[in-house]
Amino acid sequence: MAHDEIVLHEGDLVLVLGSGGGIDVLPSARRVGPTGRVYGLDATSDMPSLARDNAAQAGVTNTEFLHGTIEHVPLPGRAVDVVISNRVVDLSGDRAAALAEAFRVLRPGGRFGVGDVVTEDAVPDQDLRRRTETRIGCEAGSLTAGEYRTLLLDAGFTGITITPTADHGDGVHSAVVKAAKPPVAPGFEIRPMRAEDAGQVLSVYQLGLDTGHASFETTAPAWETFSSARLGHLRYVVADTRTDQVVAWVAASRVSARPVYAGVVEHSIYVHPDHGSRGLGRALLNAFVTASEDAGVWTVQSGVFPENTASLALHQAAGFRVLGTRERIGRHHGVWRDVLMIERRSPAI
Ligand SMILES: C[S@@+](CC[C@H](N)C(=O)[O-])C[C@H]1O[C@@H](n2cnc3c(N)ncnc32)[C@H](O)[C@@H]1O
Repeated sequence: MAHDEIVLHEGDLVLVLGSGGGIDVLPSARRVGPTGRVYGLDATSDMPSLARDNAAQAGVTNTEFLHGTIEHVPLPGRAVDVVISNRVVDLSGDRAAALAEAFRVLRPGGRFGVGDVVTEDAVPDQDLRRRTETRIGCEAGSLTAGEYRTLLLDAGFTGITITPTADHGDGVHSAVVKAAKPPVAPGFEIRPMRAEDAGQVLSVYQLGLDTGHASFETTAPAWETFSSARLGHLRYVVADTRTDQVVAWVAASRVSARPVYAGVVEHSIYVHPDHGSRGLGRALLNAFVTASEDAGVWTVQSGVFPENTASLALHQAAGFRVLGTRERIGRHHGVWRDVLMIERRSPAI
């Protein structure tokens, strides 16, 4: 890929992973213009100087060539608008680390677009597959489309598309892989929830419970109870980028072990009461909905107290509808309360 397959805008800051002699860097630098900049990163020590010479010969000045690996990118977090590459992620022995680094260096709303080798999910003959991968120089072995999608989701990407291009036979394809880092208001970042977030997640949870309008629960559970009751993926936080303080979270659980409901989840979303404005809840819910579709979820459901009009409006704006009212379904501080059942059926899955 990818300079001609991902849209670059005037002024974009772009990182090219495994930039070699600069074949993707130079046209990208022309596209982003004098207000933009393109970083080329390569692990081979002589490649950056070769690429610098090529840029000088081409009269391109808005480039910077860095020596380093895609698994440890020598740039600060949220430094670029776009990450692109061509046939490099498939060379990595640690793709999870490479994708986590791409996510880290992208600003919220930033785009990821790479050309890579991807195998169909159901490949009949592993020996044939391996022979084809060796023939096309994919020495580390390709990921299946499903494995690639899971790694991108684990890194925090959403809006994932994997589009096969050239067919190399035996289920092995070249493919264009695109994804995005979820957008959110300046000063914040939406990223996967980590075990280290436990204390802050539970404290935002407790603040929500204290309002009396979030849940029948009155006390946030211990982390182990919280975590084991929810899916390991599809859990995200909004963090303040300056302090890394968690100001909102979303997580989901399966509604049933029956296979027919494999794509149905129930979610909860909590926003710190001091951070109710700036659209953080909306951005987080949109990221969650997009990620759930990326993960093959077709229905997200939840229950909301009718008095929680802010939550209802938030969910309706994200495509949820009210199914009905469960009347006096449970007691909260001794009072029987109604719950509105809401759900969003994905139009895409
Ligand atoms: C197949 S070439 C592609 C180069 C360039 N994208 C092109 O189309 O000409 C792979 C490049 O990625 C670099 N590379 C491979 N693994 C890398 C890694 N883990 N970190 C950084 N660069 C890497 C190699 O040094 C090489 O220059």
